[in-house]
Amino acid sequence: MTRCIYVNGRYAPYAEAAIHAEDRGFQFGDGVYEVIEVRGGRLVDPTRHLDRLSGSLTALMIAAPMSRGCLMRVFAEVIARNRVSSGILYLQVTRGAAARDFALPNQDHPATVVCLARAMDFAKVDARARVGIAVKTMADNRWGRCDLKTVMLLPAVLAKQAAKAAGAQDAWFVDRDGFVTEGASNNAWIVTKAGELVTRPLGHDILPGVTRATVMDVARELQLKVIERPFTVADALGASEAFVTSATTIVMPVVQIDGQPVGEGKPGAVAARLRAAFHAVAEMGGV
Ligand code: PDD
Repeated sequence: MTRCIYVNGRYAPYAEAAIHAEDRGFQFGDGVYEVIEVRGGRLVDPTRHLDRLSGSLTALMIAAPMSRGCLMRVFAEVIARNRVSSGILYLQVTRGAAARDFALPNQDHPATVVCLARAMDFAKVDARARVGIAVKTMADNRWGRCDLKTVMLLPAVLAKQAAKAAGAQDAWFVDRDGFVTEGASNNAWIVTKAGELVTRPLGHDILPGVTRATVMDVARELQLKVIERPFTVADALGASEAFVTSATTIVMPVVQIDGQPVGEGKPGAVAARLRAAFHAVAEMGGV
């Protein structure tokens, strides 16, 4: 249970945590966010998450609301006050509250900063990883800067809902040329019959996942070959394994795509090895 939420300098009780009705995040989706795993009370890969946050803020021309040191202190306080040992930390920074106008307010306009921590039962996620998930593919209808972690998540919300309605656990977006871009909230991977890991190269069409980057480090440790190239749904169905990566799922096997089995239709050994080795390789940040 989340007891309190940091909002603009104050640790507010959950029921009272509020932002202004004219917040630009609320009116325009004019803001960015990060989701960071908390494990054993520590942040997983904080440097990579803060680097990505800086990149998203710079691209949107939102000034950093505070230094990294101050942000880390807020993270520590939010985790401690909510007594989260295993779970997630959510940070959202928007361009702040201003009378509705598409044009940007002045550069020195104060941002809105919201941060919360929530406990999660990772045993449930582990249990799911032993079974794997089914995904439904759909046309990627998102904007042209999916590399920025903005709060404009409506396409992902609708995609996940459509997947759920079809009995799947997640959605995979597919571009106009038939290549998988990524999952609605994760990066997509396959393991070829030759045992090589394949994932789409970074670009404007996918989020540069922190877990994706760390899984590449893990693969190197395990002496597995990673190839960054686009793959189609047919490639995935012909692969020996498929999986997705994100801060909340780490490495989650995909065992079915649009009702068709991937490989033997059950989680594969490569995904299991990557998942097992992940936290030994990731940066565990002291908070
Ligand atoms: N989603 N791609 C998309 C579209 C995402 O939303 C996410 C993360 C990822 C994986 O990024 P990372 O490995 O840094 O978590 C890829 C988060 C978890 C969310 O929105 O809840």
